[in-house]
Amino acid sequence: MIKPPEYISTLRPYAPGKPVEELERELGIRDSVKLASNENPIGPSPMALKVLIDSLINSRPSMSINRYPDGSGYLLKKELSLKLSVDEDEIIIGNGSNELIDIAVRTFLQPGDEAIMANPSFVVFPMSVQALGSKPIQIPLKSYTHDLEAMADAVTERTKMIFIANPNNPTGTINRKGEFERFMDRLKEGVLVVSDEAYYEYVTTPDYPDTMKYFKNGRDILILRTFSKIYGLAGLRIGYGIAIKDIIKEMDKIRPPFNTNTLAQNAAIYALRDHDHLSRSKEINENGKLYLYKELDSLNIQYVPTEANFIYILLGRDSNIFYKEMLRQGVIIRPVGPQEIRVTIGLPEENERFIKALKKVIG
Ligand SMILES: Cc1ncc(COP(=O)(O)O)c(C=O)c1O
Repeated sequence: MIKPPEYISTLRPYAPGKPVEELERELGIRDSVKLASNENPIGPSPMALKVLIDSLINSRPSMSINRYPDGSGYLLKKELSLKLSVDEDEIIIGNGSNELIDIAVRTFLQPGDEAIMANPSFVVFPMSVQALGSKPIQIPLKSYTHDLEAMADAVTERTKMIFIANPNNPTGTINRKGEFERFMDRLKEGVLVVSDEAYYEYVTTPDYPDTMKYFKNGRDILILRTFSKIYGLAGLRIGYGIAIKDIIKEMDKIRPPFNTNTLAQNAAIYALRDHDHLSRSKEINENGKLYLYKELDSLNIQYVPTEANFIYILLGRDSNIFYKEMLRQGVIIRPVGPQEIRVTIGLPEENERFIKALKKVIG
């Protein structure tokens, strides 16, 4: 059989969770709750849902699904441009922000180049870098947060990119304004900072860095955001990136021509307009967070305070065994370390199910 290069054969594929229906069939359970992928538990905005149905039934001929989508996402870019006060040619639309990570890596890295990232952080960063024959340099977190000083220290002549997930997945922590400023001050031109802000709408700390400021100053920064989290459109696969137009222009050269579909583009436009859905989603997350903190405190279980829609829990016991035992209780969480799990903040009844199952499993 034809053999791939060693940097491909040694890659470990991303392990997605099984569909809920499949798990239920396997375990003979019903009504399970999925708190494993940091999705919005209330679903998408009703305005986005309405436009999806309208697009299927009454769409303008140019938007009917027998036609190819608008490859560049013109109308969505226009909407984002107004909302964020950036030019349309400073925006790129991706099939989820996942695709934009990959496009950025393939645009700016060559085999042998280095890209710096934290560990643990979003697992797609090292996969994407290694898939190109470039070298992921993983810097351990410090107090569950990106160690920006150590990351800047790790820059060499070969460094082309630095990934910062802010908030970080799986720990839910953020890097603050001051340390981000010092970090940016230390970087020279020619190193692209990828600020992955998939959860930024959930952040409550006022000290959160305004990365748009660096982009407006012409710095080498790519800001990534998504419609998969608070906007509740994970299944449609759509996200966006913001950078100076010369960076976007290069990335656009390798973006597949029709990478995002008509339905996703339309839904994203209406999701951006639905301010009620956004604030309701935030409120449910905040209330769920406080409930889970209170219950975990009363059980004496350690966790890392979160700025996102999930909580990193330090179980103090084997996380894979715990995961399987929770499954039998119909609760799907994510083991993310030998003794650590990540649980998505759900609806009140889902959070209660999680706590009830947790109590049963830990005895
Ligand atoms: C930090 C981070 N970045 C990016 C993504 C990818 O999101 P998308 O669905 O937009 O590809 C995720 C999804 O879990 C994430 O946690």
